[in-house]
Amino acid sequence: MDICFEFERLLLQSLGSSISVVDEVQGFRYFDARDLLGFVDGTANPNGLDLAASTLVGDEDGEFCGGSYVVVQKYLHDLTAWQQLSNDLQEKIIGRTKIDNVEIDDDAAPQKSHKSLATVVDAEGVEHDILRDNMPFGRAGANEFGTYFIGYSRYLWVIEKMLQRMYVGEPAGSYDRLLDFSTPHTGTTFFAPARPLLQAMAGAALK
Ligand code: HEM
Repeated sequence: MDICFEFERLLLQSLGSSISVVDEVQGFRYFDARDLLGFVDGTANPNGLDLAASTLVGDEDGEFCGGSYVVVQKYLHDLTAWQQLSNDLQEKIIGRTKIDNVEIDDDAAPQKSHKSLATVVDAEGVEHDILRDNMPFGRAGANEFGTYFIGYSRYLWVIEKMLQRMYVGEPAGSYDRLLDFSTPHTGTTFFAPARPLLQAMAGAALK
């Protein structure tokens, strides 16, 4: 927290009155990388060579090569309602077991699990991963429990497609039941340029 706090202080100091802060959220890591719903979060993230291939813009967009699209959403959970569900139903909604984090196949019911709805496969049958760096946050005394969704992607359409499958449902109407217990309060899309582009932009601004 010390280094994050200091970075934030320096950043705000240098930006001065050119910006105004509308929200400030301090996240933390919770037990074995769990979200506040109690499930291990981030397991299916890409790693090794897949990591760069899923998250960094490639030659398809020359000027922006090496950058990444970053989508964030601040979710608040109704933890009281969530805790009233049986473990079985919670696991069905997420698509993984709670204690040992093993994937569960969907049953015949039309409403698929979060894991299945968030799996995006293109017309050629290629699955597109994103990197999720979700952070739990909250204030137990204020009954505030949340997940700050942070997703990095090479292609913005992949995250948009995930959101469409979660919110509209697949088939339409069979939306993600995680959303019955999780409400997005803010959200935005950033583009994080690679260092050479940032340096060029900074250089141009200083001229
Ligand atoms: C309330 C907010 C959310 C919570 C608590 C949450 C939690 C989880 C959990 C527990 C898993 C299973 C373990 C894992 O593989 O990480 C998972 C998987 C996943 N989630 Fe979420 N998630 C949230 C929102 C989102 C959003 C908004 C997106 C995309 C726009 C997303 C995309 C994914 C993906 C891609 C997977 C992996 C699917 C696979 O197995 O291939 N999640 N999430």
